Order: sequence, then C-alpha cells, then structure tokens
Amino acid sequence: MSLPKAELHLHIEGTLEPELAFELAARNGVELPYADTDSLRTAYQFEDLQSFLNLYYELMAVLRTERDFEDLANAYLARAAAQGVRHAEIFFDPQAHLARGVEMGTVVEGLWRALGSSARNHGVSTQLIMCFLRDESAESALETLDAAKPYLDRIVGVGLDSAEVGHPPVKFREVYEAAAALGLRRVAHAGEEGPPEYIVEALDVLGVERIDHGLRCVESPELVARLVRDRVPLTLCPLSNVRLRTVDVLGDHPLPAMLDAGLMCTVNSDDPAYFGGYAGDNFEAVQQALGLSEERLRELARNSFLASFLEHDEELRAR
Ligand code: ADE
Ligand code: ZN
Repeated sequence: MSLPKAELHLHIEGTLEPELAFELAARNGVELPYADTDSLRTAYQFEDLQSFLNLYYELMAVLRTERDFEDLANAYLARAAAQGVRHAEIFFDPQAHLARGVEMGTVVEGLWRALGSSARNHGVSTQLIMCFLRDESAESALETLDAAKPYLDRIVGVGLDSAEVGHPPVKFREVYEAAAALGLRRVAHAGEEGPPEYIVEALDVLGVERIDHGLRCVESPELVARLVRDRVPLTLCPLSNVRLRTVDVLGDHPLPAMLDAGLMCTVNSDDPAYFGGYAGDNFEAVQQALGLSEERLRELARNSFLASFLEHDEELRAR
C-alpha cells in the first residue's frame, strides 16, 4: 500500500532476504547450514520470539563488511520506498555483530553509506536507533554505548530488544540514564511477550518516549488509560505478532479495539524478511483482515509521522 507513512519499528538485520543472505555468504566465504533459499525459507516457521531470534542471529553470520551493511540497507530502503515509506527509523543490534568480531565502525559506516544518500536515492529520510540486547548483561549494554560514542552524530536514540521475558526494563536503568545524558532519544520493546508491568517500567524507569509493540497493554485498563492520556505511541507489528504467535490469526488482532480506545497506534514491519511483509504489506493485511476504514488507515499513517523523531514541520512537508 503506497499511502505515505513513516516506519518506526524495523530491525535492519530483519530485512535480510534469503537471496541476499546466500549472495553475502558466497561473497564472504561463509557456510550456511541450508542448501538453498527454498530450504532456508522452510525454517521460517516460528513457535515464539526465541525460535525466531535463533534463526535471526544465525543468519547474521553473513554480514561482515561495510559493503554488506550498505547492501542490506539499500535493499530495505528500495522496498520500503516502493510501499510508501517516506521516513524510516531503523534499529540495529551492534552487540550481535561485536560478538562476531565485526566492529561498531563497520556496522555504522556501512549502514550510513546507504542511509546518508537515502533521501536522494530512495526518497526516504532515515534515522538510526541503536538497540541493546536485553538478554545480554547491563555491563555489556554500557560497553556498547561507549563503543558508539564516536558515531553519536549518526544515532538518534537507543532501544531495547531481543528475548523479553525474564529481562525487565529495570535491568537497563543505568545505560538509559547515560543515553539520556548524551541527548539520545529512548524507546524500548515492551509488552510483546512480556507483561504489562514491563511497559510501565519502560516508561517510569527508562523514560522511553515510545513503546515498541506494547500489545499486552490491553490486559491492563489503568495502563491503557495512561497511554491514551499521555499519547504514548505504540509501534505495533501485526504480521510479526501472527508469525511469533502472540496473536492466533490476524483477524483476532486487537488493533481496531486499541484505536477505538484512543491509543496512538502505528503499524510497522519489525523483521519483514521473516514475517511475510514490509510496511505497506502490513497496512494491506490489517485493512483486509480487520476491515479498517480509509479514515483509520489515514490515522495510522498520520500517527506514524507524529510519533517519529522528525520535527513536525518536516512531517508536514513529507505528506
Ligand atoms: N529483534 C528483532 N526482532 C525482534 C522482536 N520482534 N522482538 C524482540 N527483539 C527483536
Ligand atoms: Zn522489534
């Protein structure tokens, strides 16, 4: 769907399509434990978040050089542009690369080669959000923030992702305080598989401005009331929720009820190479499965710009 929109929840490593994975594997002499793209695709049957993350981290082995990260980002930006994305706030997971001996500079400079020229080449403005892996230690997150210091002119904010349950936001209080002191914007995944309390903690302890997913807020009427009152944006990812089985079928997704309740929802793709579609595909899927009106779709698109870290005058020009 080509309605102009901003994408606010997108992991660049989750845009690695099987074809590019094999191309990069060949280029870098990396052996993948799959015979071909078809057999790799058959592995895309997930039970839950962890079963997806296992494959997501495994395939990252093919990303080694600046050029690899540049090619990955350019491929995403071309697809996103074709689906109406005009602005993208892109997550990356440096710890997953540092652990494999790929340096922060390789990742950021490589992504920047594509992002720096994206407005010109793809008509998509971009920002980078560095995520901490919540199943790694708090010390590792602090070291990662330190390693990013030479690149802070290219990073708008920090996020928190990976395995949620058992890794509450409070674990990352110190690194979020340090990020805030550096002038970085703050977001966090919360309430994807984890309980509503993690959403409350992300707001109260980490001081986040947006909640990534936030789906499980619907279990707490007090929390919903707070999110509505404070206009806290939620970056929902409907196709991801189905593939990771937090929602049984798209027709059961709570998005319409969330909009009716007055929540500031946005629709995003999360890891589109793995979950069956990019931003426009997610819009189309919810329109079809949930019968959303044109007005609701326009509201979702408008919310995406309002919830972005673009200045709002830029947003108005983008539309
Ligand atoms: N990393 C990549 N995609 C993710 C998701 N949906 N939830 C948590 N961590 C992730
Ligand atoms: Zn995500």
